[in-house]
This record gives sequence, structure tokens and C-alpha cells, in this order.
Amino acid sequence: MNATNRKVMLSAVQPSNTLTLGNLLGAIRNWVKHQDDYECWFFAVNLHAITVRQDPTELREQTYRAVATYIAAGINPEHATLFVQSQVPEHAELAWLLNCYSYMGELGRMTQFKDKSQKAGENIAVGLFTYPVLMAADILLYDTDLVPVGADQKQHIELTRDIAIRMNNLYGEDLFRVPQPMIAQVGAKIMSLQDPTAKMSKSDPDPNASVYLTDTDDVIRKKLKRAITDSGNEITDDDSKPGVKNLLSIQSAITGKPISGIVASYAGKMYGHLKVDTAELVVQAIAPLRDEANRLYEERTFLDQVLRKGADRARERAGKTLARCYDRIGLLK
Ligand code: TRP
Repeated sequence: MNATNRKVMLSAVQPSNTLTLGNLLGAIRNWVKHQDDYECWFFAVNLHAITVRQDPTELREQTYRAVATYIAAGINPEHATLFVQSQVPEHAELAWLLNCYSYMGELGRMTQFKDKSQKAGENIAVGLFTYPVLMAADILLYDTDLVPVGADQKQHIELTRDIAIRMNNLYGEDLFRVPQPMIAQVGAKIMSLQDPTAKMSKSDPDPNASVYLTDTDDVIRKKLKRAITDSGNEITDDDSKPGVKNLLSIQSAITGKPISGIVASYAGKMYGHLKVDTAELVVQAIAPLRDEANRLYEERTFLDQVLRKGADRARERAGKTLARCYDRIGLLK
């Protein structure tokens, strides 16, 4: 399947906690849209997930749930390679090599590390610090051209480029393909329903802040009803109204309509209308996906088959890149 000259697109999501509407609109939907234009690699990064403590049963189950959700959302495992990071040992192996070409200074400047280490308190895992290096390995193993990610991950892609260029300078321009981030214009950043200045995050402790892809229709409606809006009553696309803006961008991401058109359709209407309509659109987007994901989640034999095939394909490609690195660096293989 790799014998084409399509560009290579790769992305991944952590299987910690339950995926949210933000993951669907910001990431998974874009993957689905592009899966036939590009040669695609999509995976669940469970090795990244253990940079903070995970319950073993939860982690295993969330990994299956993530894979079931990707398939239910429309990722076709015959077209795109779908796999789980821990089943492709080349990721951990390349990460070690890259660690030796990454600098303390540049990793210390990563905003996500600064945020997460603050939250982690005293005992910060070294893995949290080298997290972006494992991510660079994820990307560089597959000769990736494009990485669709949320805006918050752009810095990690830039680091990946820096490491790749640094090693290419040492070992030859054809060692690594230098990837580019692909940040979607709309839907890249769905905000928390309870604090619309923060990104909707599956690790947010407040369950009302996120719509989970497992939420029932009633729960979705309740969460949107309780969404924080702003003072005033006019529906405008305005930075001073982050709550309203968030609901408008959710609608825009679901329907594909420009925000300006949506705003115009609310002339003279109130926040309540906007919330009810947004809730219905979210229910329509999530319900079929949720039901299908629930069904697939029980089909362990099928999921294991998909993942086995995915891992085989991934290992074949990743193994070539890794062998090239060993050879250039002078490591016996
Ligand atoms: N760090 C990414 C996130 O938190 C997840 C991730 C890991 C990733 N490896 C990747 C994303 C490779 C894109 C490509 O969202």
C-alpha cells in the first residue's frame, strides 16, 4: 500500500480518559476527511499516556475504546493504517536515539511540559520531560510530510523539525523527512464549556467542561444548557464573548458553515436559542458515532485483528527508518 507517491499524513491521540467533542472536531474528523488523499498513519499513543499515572485496566480499556471510536468515526483500516504505539517497539527505540540529539534547554522551553510539570507537583516523571522526543520519534519513523494537530501541539512539531534537521546535518539529508504541522482553521480548538478561555480537554476534572464521545443524548443536552456564556445578550463573534464564540465555532465545525453566516441567522435571538441549537447539532454528530463505537468496543477479536494488521504494517515501515538510523550512527544491528 505504500508504493504510491501520495504525501504521508500521520497523527495520534492519547488513550487516556474518554475522547471529547474537541478531539472529534479538532482531530479525528480531519483525519477521516483526508484518509484517501494521503497515505495515513493513525494511532493511540499509550506510551505517552503513562507519563502520568494510569490505572492499568482503565488504560487497556481506553485504548480499545479509542480504536473503536476511530473506526466508528469513519477511519477505514483498509485505507489508513490504524495501530497502537506500544505494539510497535520501534517508537521507543527511536525515541532513545533522538534523546541523544535533543537538548535540555529546548525541552525545558516546551509550554506543555511547563504546564504539566506544574500540575504534577514534586515528583515529575522524566518521561514528561522527554515526551516531545517520543512524539518526534512517532512522526519521523514514517517519513511523514504532514501532521494534523491542534494549535497547542505546534511547538512539538517545530521541535521535531529541529531534531530532524540537526540529525540530517550530521548524517545525511536523506536520514529524515522534515514534517510540517497542519492546523485546521475551524474546529482546531474547541474550548471548555465551563471555562471558554481554556481548551476542551479530556483530562479536565470537571465532567461538565467537556462533551465526551460516550455521553448520552440527554447528558449532551444538559451540558450545553449549562455551558457558560457571557454577559450581554447579543449573539456576536467577538473575542470578548468567548463562551458564545465557542458555541458558534462548534456549530461551524459540525456544519461546515462559516461563523459569519451562523451569527447572521441569530439576529434578534437569545443565548438560549444558540445553546439549544448547538446541543441538537452535537447530538446529531455524536449519537451515531457513539452507538457504533459501543458496538465495536465489544468486538475484541475484530479489534485485535485490525490492530495486529496495523502493527505489522507500521513495523515494516518504521523498521526501515530505524535501521537507517542505526547504520548512519554506527550502531551494530
Ligand atoms: N502530543 C499529542 C497530543 O497531546 C499526541 C501525540 C503523540 C501526537 N504523538 C503524536 C500527535 C504524533 C501527532 C503526531 O495531542
